Amino acid sequence: MARILITSAIPYINGIKHLGNLVGSQLPADLYARYMRARDHEVLFLCATDEHGTPAELAAAKAGMPVADYCAEMHEVQTRLSDGFRLSFDKFGRSSSPQNHLLTQHFAGKLAENGLISEVSEKQMYSNADGRFLPDRYIEGTCPNCGYDRARGDQCENCTKQLDPTDLIEPRSAISGSTDLEVRETKHLYLKQRSLRGQLSEWIDSKTDWPVLTTSIARKWLNDGDGLQDRGITRDLDWGIPVKKGAEDWPGMEGKVFYVWFDAPIEYIACAKEWSDARGAPDAEWERWWRTDKGADDVRYVQFMGKDNVPFHTLSFPATIIGSGEPWKLVDYIKSFNYLNYDGGQFSTSQGRGVFMDQALSILPADYWRWWLLSHAPENSDAEFTWENFQASVNKDLADVLGNFVSRVTKFCRSKFGEEVPSGGDWGAEEDALIARLSEGVARYEAAMEAIEVRKAAGELRAIWVAGNEYLQSAAPWSVFKDDPDRAAAQVRLALNLIRVYAVLSAPFIPDAAGSMLSAMNTLDTDWPSDMRAALTALPPGHAFTVPEVLFKKIADEEREDWQTGFAGQR
Ligand code: MF3
Ligand code: ZN
Repeated sequence: MARILITSAIPYINGIKHLGNLVGSQLPADLYARYMRARDHEVLFLCATDEHGTPAELAAAKAGMPVADYCAEMHEVQTRLSDGFRLSFDKFGRSSSPQNHLLTQHFAGKLAENGLISEVSEKQMYSNADGRFLPDRYIEGTCPNCGYDRARGDQCENCTKQLDPTDLIEPRSAISGSTDLEVRETKHLYLKQRSLRGQLSEWIDSKTDWPVLTTSIARKWLNDGDGLQDRGITRDLDWGIPVKKGAEDWPGMEGKVFYVWFDAPIEYIACAKEWSDARGAPDAEWERWWRTDKGADDVRYVQFMGKDNVPFHTLSFPATIIGSGEPWKLVDYIKSFNYLNYDGGQFSTSQGRGVFMDQALSILPADYWRWWLLSHAPENSDAEFTWENFQASVNKDLADVLGNFVSRVTKFCRSKFGEEVPSGGDWGAEEDALIARLSEGVARYEAAMEAIEVRKAAGELRAIWVAGNEYLQSAAPWSVFKDDPDRAAAQVRLALNLIRVYAVLSAPFIPDAAGSMLSAMNTLDTDWPSDMRAALTALPPGHAFTVPEVLFKKIADEEREDWQTGFAGQR
């Protein structure tokens, strides 16, 4: 039995996530966590909300709420939706937790002790009306290049020219619209990533088994242009983790907070402490997952994220960990994803384009989405959601193949033998062939899951479902029954047992349907079918079952068209 630590990139607090966000980290992480638990490994699966930064502050202001209240409320909303999608986190934490405050300050203190922090004075726009410094993109004005009057301080959206806030004509605050702005001197902390470049590069080079998508992004940042830059880790904001050196104040840093990308990954660690603290457990509980001097050296740590997150996880966070000089666990494997597009364009949170988690669940149960998203995960290239494709996959894979198998077998048995596993008859060559085919299929499924090849795993699972259907079709117990009811009983006995096996194998993808299948089969036996022949005798003759409700209903053309038009507009 191995111990596996799994984290998903932590979603920003502002707003409900769309299906593209979901399939880029949380959902495949859940698939992997469920699979590893099913294989009897010890799993700690963590996620949290990413609650700091200007977007959180502005979203709260827009909602007319104090930012702490806004975050607390949105955390509840996101928790409900994760539960709705059956994301099986051991802890869904918050980057604003007291645990993360302490740990983030601790790391900053260690980095300073190790000479890896420098203090830099800079000039930045200050808004008197707002009483705060403004990040570049929160300054608006007229573009000196094209005259567009809503250019941002970092870039003009109209002509794409890169700008400095001081380039803007008549600059104003994007928050209040005030033009009462001045340039002020402010001091910030920088993490000297450049001096860790050698160590980081050696570490990345040692990861020969990582997906190319992950290592190519890391290498590009390490080697391109000026290479790895030192990184500002503080901001002039109210909301965030106050800048401290461990427990001590940091002279000159009063009123400043850490940059959101500094504290967010540290939440992976803090979340483990939130998890053990919530149960009143001692620190040893979470430290055995995170401290290599306290047992974490035999943990396998796997991270899931979208490709835009890769630089932060291959370079910045490891720089924090390595730079601390303390024995914290480094990630062993990074699974990254491309983007999911929506119907010929991009999913967009700001434009409300696409399907969002709450909307998805209001139309159909989680399993429909989980199956489509995972079986179309954007692994080797970007992928695209279309309503036609969604309808086709659901109707074919879930309704025609899996659902139909379950309903045919249970209904036929009920009508001819009653609602219990029938006795009599023997298995022969056809069953041997099926068992061999299933065993090989399961071995391929396991290999894909171990390698976290999500689409491939879905394909193998589908093939295992198809094998059962083909067996049923050619065995045809409904015809055999007339002349040889015992032989038909043997066939049905196998097929009923196969429903249990399907439930166990499919649970990581479609946990609710798997639960319905197990309860219809009236069993709590979720043993993994490592020996297929034995697994297919788990439910003995005489074992009672019930015919389940329809597992998956087909999506009708009119429904699909309604959704298609309904979602075409803005959210
Ligand atoms: N909130 C970020 C995003 O959605 C991800 C943060 S991951 C962490 O892109 F490592 F910082 F936690
Ligand atoms: Zn312009």
